[in-house]
Amino acid sequence: MSSQRQIFFEHIAQTSDFPLALEIDKAEGMYLYDSAGKKYLDLISGIAVSNLGHANSQIKQAIKEQVDKHMHLMVYGELVQSVQVLLASKLSTLLPENLGCVYFTNSGTEATEGAMKLAKRLSGRTSIAAFKNAYHGSSQGSLSVCGNEELKNAFRPLLPGIEILDYNMPDQLDRINENTAAVILEIIQAEAGIILPSKEFLLKLSNRCKATGCLLIVDEIQTAMRRTGPMFAFESTSIIPDILLLGKGFGGGMPLGAFIASKKMMAAFTHKPVLGNLSTFGGHPVSCAAALASLEQLEDASWESKIESKEKLFRKLLVHNKIIEIRGKGLFLCLEFENAGMNQEIIGKCLKKGLFTDWFLFAPNCLRIAPPLIISEEEIERACTIILDVLNTI
Ligand SMILES: Cc1ncc(COP(=O)(O)O)c(C=O)c1O
Repeated sequence: MSSQRQIFFEHIAQTSDFPLALEIDKAEGMYLYDSAGKKYLDLISGIAVSNLGHANSQIKQAIKEQVDKHMHLMVYGELVQSVQVLLASKLSTLLPENLGCVYFTNSGTEATEGAMKLAKRLSGRTSIAAFKNAYHGSSQGSLSVCGNEELKNAFRPLLPGIEILDYNMPDQLDRINENTAAVILEIIQAEAGIILPSKEFLLKLSNRCKATGCLLIVDEIQTAMRRTGPMFAFESTSIIPDILLLGKGFGGGMPLGAFIASKKMMAAFTHKPVLGNLSTFGGHPVSCAAALASLEQLEDASWESKIESKEKLFRKLLVHNKIIEIRGKGLFLCLEFENAGMNQEIIGKCLKKGLFTDWFLFAPNCLRIAPPLIISEEEIERACTIILDVLNTI
């Protein structure tokens, strides 16, 4: 009989020739456990998903209660489902007034797609500006606004009218004009290796959008849910999105995304054409229950200072001559090394020592540090000791 591992390679579609292929049996809190019982300290949260750690008891309880009430009932938007209503109203208390209306999706890329459609429908314009090294999802519209040509080339033709600008280059923002329906940006670029925006860049971007009537779509699929400290990373900047994208950690470990705008803007999907954006499963009640239980825990204001001090501890401990730079904000950090080969070796050796980490899609020389926000000081110390020990062997 084939082993589980053989079946994985034979019958599950692969996305690379080098999957991690660990056989994980269970996960709890900060740890993943493999089938041999070895435990791994999680430094990546399933890529910015498990912000409250694995198997959070309140989230599990909310899921169980929702399953007992009901699962899928009807396609998106037709029925008043209490768990969706509670989640949308909770979000509206946490966001500025212009972000009061939520369209729930199943994933991040669907949120991107919906936001781009909304911007085109509202403006009657067709061009969208995006940034080099940005990642907004893998479906064809989202891929069109990704800022990496290699990822896109095999799948052309993609959407026409996409302008790719350099991130953090205020001078290039003049290319946003009266034909631009929207600009889409990650408030902090994730897959580029955690690149923070300059104040000047964000200010000019926001002003340019206002001057040209172009909508500002802010992708917080990785950065929201307190990943950087505040509930949403844009809160510590000068900008307010016209459309906000959520995904990943938003669902508390369940598949859920959202694009959020004003009630007036969202109303455009109701006519010309009616049913302008559809989804069967968007806002699945079980995912919404998990998201609500997660948000209720993340709401506590004390997270912000805790995350700040955890960042400080990482920065204090991770000092080594092989580390070129430590970048990021909150528990959204990256270690830059000289090259991708060195980073792969470090990641592999960390894994052997029970530390689970990863690289970045467009920055293969950078190591990802985005642990569940519940990571303790001792666990940070252990993670850093493992990384430093590994660096001493390189
Ligand atoms: C910033 C950002 N936007 C969008 C997406 C797409 O989300 P999903 O994989 O849920 O489609 C991702 C996924 O990695 C992301 O990091």
